[in-house]
Amino acid sequence: MESRGGPGVFIVVEGPEGAGKSTLARWLGARLVAEGLRVVPVREPGGTPVAEAARKVALKFPHGMSPAAELFLFLAARADLVERVIRPALEAGQVVVADRFDLSTMAYQVAGAGLPLAEVTQAIRLATGGLVPDVTLVLDVPVELGRARQRAARKVQDRFERQDDAFHHRVREAYRRAQGPGVVHLDATQPKKFVQDAAWREVMAATALSTRGTS
Ligand code: TYD
Repeated sequence: MESRGGPGVFIVVEGPEGAGKSTLARWLGARLVAEGLRVVPVREPGGTPVAEAARKVALKFPHGMSPAAELFLFLAARADLVERVIRPALEAGQVVVADRFDLSTMAYQVAGAGLPLAEVTQAIRLATGGLVPDVTLVLDVPVELGRARQRAARKVQDRFERQDDAFHHRVREAYRRAQGPGVVHLDATQPKKFVQDAAWREVMAATALSTRGTS
């Protein structure tokens, strides 16, 4: 039960902490706008009032919470974002660039927190109606380097960033193993320009965007 979201293009950027996802997603969005395309940037969790409320609890809640409770917060956020922002944009022929999507749930809630894969897969399908990105760029960076980058940027840690190294190694390995339609892997230890060029080539190869835009 996979579904494409209409005439638009759905691009997702994924990866562990400190991989440079947000920077790459911003760069891709700007590059696509420069090509004359209408771009809708989103970041997960977030992007609608419900999703922003869920984000606050999922990332900032000062007490512990069960892995299943956490899962449903992320999925509540995703369900609302897909229905109210992503699908309408795709139906209107726009390009959605998402900072995180389904693979984050597989990496953090399944590999990281130990929830069962089959049930989580079903729950994700319920939340998204089976929406599948056209391309998912998975950035890879060693745990230690990702953490060092975040320290250098003086980033305030959320609940996940405070997890121990074993958790983050499971997250990274889950990303490295990820495969499926449109999933491509990029080495994020390379210089920024190199990663951006590689990402652009992958986006052009995986979508029909090169024949649209300014032409
Ligand atoms: P992140 O993407 O690092 O955003 P910021 O740069 O603003 O901190 O933070 C989102 C966190 O949420 C990240 O630690 C991973 C976690 N997360 C999940 O555990 N499951 C999910 O399904 C999603 C979307 C995010």
